[in-house]
Amino acid sequence: MRVIITEKNIGDWAACYVAEKILAAKPTAEKPYVLGLPTGSTPLGMYKRLIQFYKDGILDFTNIVSFNMDEYVGLEKTHPQSYHHFMHENFFNHINMKPENINILDGMVTDYKAECQRFEDKMKAIGGVDLFLGGIGPDGHIAFNEPGSSLSSRTRDKELTADTIIANSRFFDGDVNKVPKLSLTVGVGTILDAKEVLIMVNGHHKARALRQAVEEGINHMWTISALQMHEKGIIVSDEEATVELKVGTYRYFKDIEGANLDSEKLIKELYKKARK
Ligand code: GLP
Repeated sequence: MRVIITEKNIGDWAACYVAEKILAAKPTAEKPYVLGLPTGSTPLGMYKRLIQFYKDGILDFTNIVSFNMDEYVGLEKTHPQSYHHFMHENFFNHINMKPENINILDGMVTDYKAECQRFEDKMKAIGGVDLFLGGIGPDGHIAFNEPGSSLSSRTRDKELTADTIIANSRFFDGDVNKVPKLSLTVGVGTILDAKEVLIMVNGHHKARALRQAVEEGINHMWTISALQMHEKGIIVSDEEATVELKVGTYRYFKDIEGANLDSEKLIKELYKKARK
């Protein structure tokens, strides 16, 4: 697993990584590049930068297909806190993705099982996800794979824990009663099936989860730790989230990734390459 600890915006680093991958893949209609996409406050910086790349002519999203990680059960697509709404507001409305290439679980269905199977089947039919992007909750959950989730789980309905309901109540007027209690979410196994996985971690409140992910063993109580099993897993963290890491761990990753940490430099290189 690579651990990128950057003082600059982690979203910029992630956006550069996504851009490099898309440019290298040269996607076509027959062979699109497939992204797994997250919601939450963490990826906002990445989406902003990707929109900028699109506006500056660096990236074209015509042949990109996306699968979102999760959705609340019981919220209409138009609900301001639904992940449908979030994705369109913060990303899709600002780029040129084809609507038919956007896949988001429908939290309004009655047959959760069928909806989750449909999602898995579609992912498989297209050849799998090339790069799954994500964030984590303070309890180390990826997507809505709460502590105790099977590390080989697939897309399914999942109850939210009290911790997550409290954490996410900030988006529901601070009222825990307004937060849905159930979600549809890709499984840990679904994420691990992607060819690459990049997880963004930010802030003091994620420090314990980062330590578990990087220094401790693989454990279903911290589902992010399953990333250790992935051939191409990357964690991009800000400085604040590293406070629980051992000094030695911190220095180790700073040392081996030394040349790759400056996202401003990466952005400049990207624009230079694109103008050639
Ligand atoms: C929700 C989402 C997760 C996300 C987490 C963290 O629980 N289901 O995918 O990683 O929130 O959110 P934030 O980035 O706002 O801290």
